[in-house]
Amino acid sequence: MKKILVTRKLLQSNEERLKKLYDVKLNSNDELYSQNKLVEMSEGCDGILSALTDKLDEETINELPHSIKILSNFAVGFGNIDLEAAKKRGIAVTNTPEVLTDATAEIGILLILGACRRAAEGIEGARSSNWKWSADYLIGKQLTGSRLGILGMGRIGKKIAKIAKSLGMIIHYHNRSKLSSDQENGAIYQKDLKSLMSVSDVLSVCCPASKETVNMINKETLEFLPKGAVVTNVARGDIVDDDALIDALNRRKVYAVGLDVYKGEPNLNPGYLKHKSAFILPHLGSATKETRTAMANLAIDNLEEFFKSGNCKNKVN
Ligand code: DGY
Repeated sequence: MKKILVTRKLLQSNEERLKKLYDVKLNSNDELYSQNKLVEMSEGCDGILSALTDKLDEETINELPHSIKILSNFAVGFGNIDLEAAKKRGIAVTNTPEVLTDATAEIGILLILGACRRAAEGIEGARSSNWKWSADYLIGKQLTGSRLGILGMGRIGKKIAKIAKSLGMIIHYHNRSKLSSDQENGAIYQKDLKSLMSVSDVLSVCCPASKETVNMINKETLEFLPKGAVVTNVARGDIVDDDALIDALNRRKVYAVGLDVYKGEPNLNPGYLKHKSAFILPHLGSATKETRTAMANLAIDNLEEFFKSGNCKNKVN
């Protein structure tokens, strides 16, 4: 029986399945393992079911025991893992695409709605009974008729586009390549980030974090937005230069932000906390019972496929 280290506590049904299939080391207290502890815990294991909170950088990967052959990441994103370092060590890395598209797109839409319609201020006012209806109380931005720029038209971007279109938004997108008109579903292609930003009343960051996308939303690119645009991010914090975005909020260049992901989670740049117009969530993208169950099942399926065939359709390195 293969031995698997599971770095974070999973939902009960997923842990039950793992127990039937493997000699499994579970993390019942859901302790956040340090890199050293993770290496120590993986001694004697054949694979690791990792999470986005595990920083599997080159140094950590090089210290893993030689028995480790797979890192099955419990996420669609894999910015927490150095893919090249894993490849050099002959370790396969897999992810969990598709199953979290709907849940993450729902949060993407919530960020757009929350930021545009001043939900953070509204919640604060309602909770403290410190509000009075008036014709101009908490006037926000209407989605209907606004232009939504989607950076990264993958599965999640497409789903956000579909919902936003049904809300009356006009969809623009930028991707490495133009989609077929079938897949575009009426969305307008912008050939580069500059042209996308310049037509985005609302920006939705949906692209994966990589060496190419790190700090893509920065001082220079933010200037291409129309004045008073809204910036939302459902992808990864690394894509945004926080100081530049906070500065843009301070200058009212950016009207509001809607964020679910941050550099250095769980800590976020305190500059965001000073802004009432920051609608912020704690990385809830995939957080529904259906989706978390499906994600863990897919991470387990990836282990199964890999141990049976030596390969896996969700291998990313
Ligand atoms: C992912 O899978 O990358 C999501 O961000 C997890 O919530």
